[in-house]
Amino acid sequence: MRDGSQGKASSLLQTVLSVIIYIVAFAMIFQSRYPDVPLTGILTGSTILGIVVGLALQDTLGNLFAGIALQADQAFQVGDVIDLKGKGSGVVENVSWRGVRIRTFQNKLLVISNAVLGKELIEVAAVGSLSARIVFFNTVYNVSPARTAQVVRDAIRGTSNLSVKMRPVIRIRSFGDSSLDWEVKYWLDDYRLYNDTDALIRERIWYGLNRAKIDFAFPTRTVYSVDGGNDIPVEEMISTTVEILSHVDVFAPLSDEDLRSLADAAVSHTYAPGEAIVRKGSDGDSMFIIVRGQVAVQIPGKSAPEVVNRLYVNDFFGEMSLFTGEPRSATVVAQEETAVLQIGTDAVKPIFEKTPELADTISEIIVTRRNQLADHDNFNTETGQDSRPKILTSIVRFFGLQK
Ligand code: CMP
Repeated sequence: MRDGSQGKASSLLQTVLSVIIYIVAFAMIFQSRYPDVPLTGILTGSTILGIVVGLALQDTLGNLFAGIALQADQAFQVGDVIDLKGKGSGVVENVSWRGVRIRTFQNKLLVISNAVLGKELIEVAAVGSLSARIVFFNTVYNVSPARTAQVVRDAIRGTSNLSVKMRPVIRIRSFGDSSLDWEVKYWLDDYRLYNDTDALIRERIWYGLNRAKIDFAFPTRTVYSVDGGNDIPVEEMISTTVEILSHVDVFAPLSDEDLRSLADAAVSHTYAPGEAIVRKGSDGDSMFIIVRGQVAVQIPGKSAPEVVNRLYVNDFFGEMSLFTGEPRSATVVAQEETAVLQIGTDAVKPIFEKTPELADTISEIIVTRRNQLADHDNFNTETGQDSRPKILTSIVRFFGLQK
């Protein structure tokens, strides 16, 4: 049995087998020495003796049979971590015919009889199998989930005893009163060290959040003042937006004043990874400038969406619907956490009236993009048929411009 694939035979099994072997050996030797003594008769005739011994050994036999049942079940073995809900937990050190010895995480010995153990709810983390732990933390509301999750993922990477076989799960557990409540589910190489590993994970989270300047939450109350305003932050915001817009190639011919009026009207939004910012076929009367992140321009493919192009910081999209009045030509999906500035028709129209050469530049871009769309779009052959003058005319017509 020691050489078998099941590993080492349990000490309980060894004891039971030894007792049986001893009894059989005793019977055989006894019979060979005293062939005249009817051993079977003695054994079957001693009913009263059996009852007396049985009653005296009631608990012991109960333990023995409960132990055999537990072993037959192979519920746990030496080295496993078991948790007797509310009664203690630790590493199984020994399984005998009487009970189980558990070494607790305070290095104390917990001895529990098989009969009692057989009636308990036991949680087993088997040695050699991957078991998970969950560590909780919370953050303030004003940091985006995608950023926090990335920071924590980077922070806990490489923690000792964190299994590389399973990717940790970092997710929002609930929206707390004054915090975003998070949990990190991770798998351990050696579950017996879970207390130390939990602590290491928490430590890494603390350092990671600290470096990223993400605050842990504590009960707070935010008081909003509705009367009166503070002009300085708004000014600052507008000049930051002007700065961003000045990096967009297509707005290069615009004066500072024009950029300012665009910035005035721009609204900023943040999208989660995988979120669609505009959807093909929907109406649209605004364009977007990418401030952070990246997007994929997609159209329906045969089985999965087909990516036509990718756009990055300082690129823009949504101009086709804005300038032509047609439905959105593609779906634009954030590939990572993406911040955009959205500018509507009302803000763009006066700028076009003042700077008609913008229409030329935009129409050129639209034609190129449409041709690219047509190369991918097998379903709609008309997508790329518009020539530049046609687009220009539709822009002029849409805005009612004099050109
Ligand atoms: P709109 O049609 O308003 O909405 C979808 C947007 O995807 C579209 O405007 C363009 O801004 C963008 N788009 C479409 N095709 C391409 C392309 N080939 N390259 C880059 N962007 C594109």
